[in-house]
Amino acid sequence: MTQLPIDQRGAWRALATHAETMRGVHLRDLFAAATGRHAAYTRHAAGLTLDLSKQRWSDETFALLLDLAREAGLPEASRALLDGERVNVSEDRPALHTALRLPADALLVVEGEDLVPGVHATLDRMATMVERFHAGQWRGATGKAIRNVVNLGVGGSDLGPLMVTHALADYRPEGVHRIEVHFASTMDGSQLADYLSRLNPETTLFVLSSKSFTTIDTLSNARTARDWLMSRLGQEEGVDDGLVMRQHFIGVSASPEKMNDWGIAPDHQLEFWEWVGGRYSLWGGIGLPIALVVGMGNFRELLAGAHAMDRHFREAELADNLPVLLALAGIWNVNFLDIRAHSILPYDGRLEYFAAYLEQLEMESNGKSVTHDGREVGYSTCPVLWGQLGPNAQHAFYQLLHQGTQAVECDFIAPLVRYDDVTDEATRDHLMSQHRLTLANCFAQSRVLMLGDDAVEDDGPRPGHKRYRGNQPSTTVLLERLTPATLGALIALYEHKVFVQATIWEINPFDQWGVELGKKIAGETQRILESHQGLEAMDDSTRALIEAVWQAERAAETGLR
Ligand code: F6P
Repeated sequence: MTQLPIDQRGAWRALATHAETMRGVHLRDLFAAATGRHAAYTRHAAGLTLDLSKQRWSDETFALLLDLAREAGLPEASRALLDGERVNVSEDRPALHTALRLPADALLVVEGEDLVPGVHATLDRMATMVERFHAGQWRGATGKAIRNVVNLGVGGSDLGPLMVTHALADYRPEGVHRIEVHFASTMDGSQLADYLSRLNPETTLFVLSSKSFTTIDTLSNARTARDWLMSRLGQEEGVDDGLVMRQHFIGVSASPEKMNDWGIAPDHQLEFWEWVGGRYSLWGGIGLPIALVVGMGNFRELLAGAHAMDRHFREAELADNLPVLLALAGIWNVNFLDIRAHSILPYDGRLEYFAAYLEQLEMESNGKSVTHDGREVGYSTCPVLWGQLGPNAQHAFYQLLHQGTQAVECDFIAPLVRYDDVTDEATRDHLMSQHRLTLANCFAQSRVLMLGDDAVEDDGPRPGHKRYRGNQPSTTVLLERLTPATLGALIALYEHKVFVQATIWEINPFDQWGVELGKKIAGETQRILESHQGLEAMDDSTRALIEAVWQAERAAETGLR
């Protein structure tokens, strides 16, 4: 018997009816009606605390959402994911990023093969590479030790390592040869051009990170980098192109053939598997820049933290399961309270790139409108998600959160303790106090967003522009501290949240067909721009845009003559 679409089944319909009453209820009334909301809606796991008490929900909502998760077959779906079933239906393969963080003594047999030894063999190869860099033994073509590593990658081959290296910069191991890691992703070459103007080619190495090894953005940057190295180093005595290729490039990809074709030395390749999605890939070879900054020991801690969250996700009851609850709060907001905007607000400068990372993770995964069996969904899926550091956002877009017309769900993220290890006492006191100031702002903002005007004593009538509606739901995620392990758990929390939501929405979070057409058409447009042929096939607007480029180029050329 074919299942009815999820929005026509019992729990969804019950939630829709229940939402009619809940839509008129203000958060301040929910707090006024019951004490102990914090305890009722707060859970802990893997060094994280998830406080969902400021969601606009009640015990009845909570129970119905759990029914929805069960009705969507969530327990079975999570098991299928973690056991390596082919959950990525459109590409007919498993999605096994969780295998990348299994401990060495684990066993994961998928379609007859234990995947763990291969995963750990790659980690060991990474460890050997990192050791060589940290010993000052990875030398450029002229014999000087490599000091600067530039990661050339985009999307999942950039955002994960960029976010984590920034977040864990305090965890650099002492007493090793220091490697500065840089990231260049944009196809226009802006970031790369800047590095090329500043870095010494003799001591610079490029990591070509690309799961497919076909991404034009990365390959364009790589070509520019290769020619820069060859033209600079080729004149040195005893240096030839082969030596430059060997000593100045590492490749990370799921395609060893393409790395070979590009000229990456086989022993300078880190391979990963088709069953790891790009935006889920920081846990293996794509994480090389992370390991170069924090060392392999801390990198393994990051994996261990993520694995602790994987175990929690597999084992905890739905009602205590952090990723499940975070996902259900989102479903409630998007599908039943019509809140289709979601802001990510970390209160710790080290998490500067966390929102950008989640933008890809959530929107590339769940920005879909067709179910596994090709049916158009009849409900909303992934909300528009954006964010930046909370303290800076307070001076930028919080105005809209407090007094705009859009309902927005917010995630506040902060570590409880920071700076207690600073050795200089006076500086430590100042910095700890700055951290408390930051936490005060974080807690104050979620409170004001919840209560609105009620956050202050009633001081009589106020004009409209000084009134605050409140009633914006939020989640607070607290980390004991920001460590490799808690960061790993935090990332895994959101990865699984995305999976839970996709399961309920009956969509595939592991493909990204939506970005393919744009790539194809960009290729055609580039051919017209370069060859000056085929313009007539374009629409009126695109034709005019292309002609504007040609005209500007002609004018520049005439000016030069
Ligand atoms: O264009 C989207 C995308 O395919 C992402 O999913 C991916 O993370 C990114 O491009 C980079 O892809 P690759 O690692 O294959 O270069």
